[in-house]
Amino acid sequence: MTGRRTEDQRRTPLVDALLKMQGRVSFHMPGHRRSPIFDDPGTSCFHLLDTTELEGSGDLASPSAHVLEAYQLAAAFFGAAETWFIPSGTTSSLFIMLASLLEEGDQLILPRAVHMAVVHAVALLGLEPCFVTGPDSSGFSDGQPDARAFIESIKQYPEAKACLVTRPDYFGRVMDLSPVAREAGRAGMALLVDEAHGAHWAAAPDLMPPTALSQGADMTCQSAHKTLSALTPASLLHVSRKALSGGLVDRDRLAGMVKVFQTSSPSFLIAASIDAARAQAASDGRKALVRLIRLNQELCDRLPASFERVLPPGADPSRLVIDFSKTGRGRLDLIAHLDEAGIDAELIDLTRVVFIPGLDQDEEDYDRLYQALVSLPPETDQARRKARLNKNRTLLTERDTFLSAPASFVQSPRQALLGRKREKGLAKEVIAPYPPGVPLIWPGERMTAAHDFHLRALRSEGVTVRGFSSPWY
Ligand SMILES: Cc1ncc(COP(=O)(O)O)c(C=O)c1O
Repeated sequence: MTGRRTEDQRRTPLVDALLKMQGRVSFHMPGHRRSPIFDDPGTSCFHLLDTTELEGSGDLASPSAHVLEAYQLAAAFFGAAETWFIPSGTTSSLFIMLASLLEEGDQLILPRAVHMAVVHAVALLGLEPCFVTGPDSSGFSDGQPDARAFIESIKQYPEAKACLVTRPDYFGRVMDLSPVAREAGRAGMALLVDEAHGAHWAAAPDLMPPTALSQGADMTCQSAHKTLSALTPASLLHVSRKALSGGLVDRDRLAGMVKVFQTSSPSFLIAASIDAARAQAASDGRKALVRLIRLNQELCDRLPASFERVLPPGADPSRLVIDFSKTGRGRLDLIAHLDEAGIDAELIDLTRVVFIPGLDQDEEDYDRLYQALVSLPPETDQARRKARLNKNRTLLTERDTFLSAPASFVQSPRQALLGRKREKGLAKEVIAPYPPGVPLIWPGERMTAAHDFHLRALRSEGVTVRGFSSPWY
C-alpha cells in the first residue's frame, strides 16, 4: 500500500467509484436504498454515497482496486507506508493500533493523561500500563510529559513492547519526538502516536509542526473529522515505512484487527469523505492554513490584553487557544456569552478557550468571534476577581498533580472495567473531566478525598466529569 507523493493528489478514486454506482436497483442494505428519503434539502444527497461492501464499492478491510488506490494516495500524502480509512473514529484506530502490536499482559509506556479511548483499549486488551512520571512531584502541564520523561520511562521499563505519545495535545502543543523515537528504537519498542488533532499538518509541512511519522513514529492515528473536512467519525491509521519493512508491524495481523474492531458494515459515506478531505487538503490545504494562521494572528493582535494567546514555541499555529483568566470571568460566564453570540468553542476549561478553526473558516466568522470576545465585560469587583484567581490557581496545580501522578492500581483496569466487584471509592470506569476526556483516575484506582474535593470543585464550575459519583457525598 505504499505510494509516492508525486501521485495526482486531485484524484478521489473512492468517491468516483461510489458515484458510478448511482442508478442501480438496490435490494441490499442500507434501507434507504440510496434514494432520497429525507425531505430536508440539506440532507437530500446523503443517501448517494451511503452504501456497504459490494462489487462496486469494494472492501475497506481488504483493500483492492479503487479502495487500495484511495489508501495509497492517502499514504503518499501523509508520508506513510500504509494508510487505512477507519470510518468509526480514532477511538477504533487506537484499538486497532494497540491490538496489532501488543498481546495480553504486555507492558505499554504512556502517560496517565491520555484520551479515554486509550484507557478502554488498555483495559479490554489486558495490557499493563506503565505511567510516565516526572523526576519530582510538581507534575507536567496538563499531564503531558516532555521528551526527557518519556526517555527515562523507556529506560525504566525495558521490557515494555511500546510507548504511546499524544501529540499534539488538545491545546496544539507538541514535543520533539525524534529523541524519543531513537530511544524507543534502541530499546526495540514501537513508538505509537495518538495524533488525533494533527491530520492537517501534512498539508503544510513548512508551516505546521513535523508529523509524528516524519519524526520516526511507527504507527499513528488521526481524526480526519477534527481538522480536515471529513464526516464524523472519520479516522486515518498510518504505518511507517520503517515499521513495515523492519517487520515490527505484521500486515496480516493489522488487517485482522481492522476486522475485529470495525463494524462489518463500515460506512462508505464516511470513508469517501476521507478520500475527498485528503484531496482537498492536498490541493488547497496549504493556502487554507496560511489564511488561518493569519486570521488567528490578526484576531489576537486586535484583542485586549485580558485575552492572551497561548502559543508556546513549536505549537500548531492554526489552533486558537486563548487564556481569558485576566478578564476575571469564569468559564460559565464565557460559555453563556459565546452561546448568546451563537459561537461554539471546542473546549472551555477554567482559564482557556480552545477554538478549532475549519480549513474554510471565513473572515466573517472571525469578526463575529472578535465582537463576542471584546464584548465580554471584565470583572470589576476586585474581591471576586482575587477569589477566582486563587481558586483557579489551586485547581490548576491540583489538576497537573493528579494528571501526572504515579499509578495506584488496586485492580487491573481490565478487572475493574469488566468485573462485577464494587467497592466504595474504587473507580470502575474512567473518571475524567469532559471534554477533553483525559482521566484523572483510571479504572482500578482508588479515588482519594483530594480527588473528590477537586472534582466537586470542577462541577461547581459547570465542568462535566464522566464516571464521577462522590463516595462521600
Ligand atoms: C487526543 C484524542 N485522541 C483520540 C480521540 C478520539 O477520537 P475520535 O473522536 O475520532 O474517536 C480524541 C477525541 O477527542 C482525542 O482528543
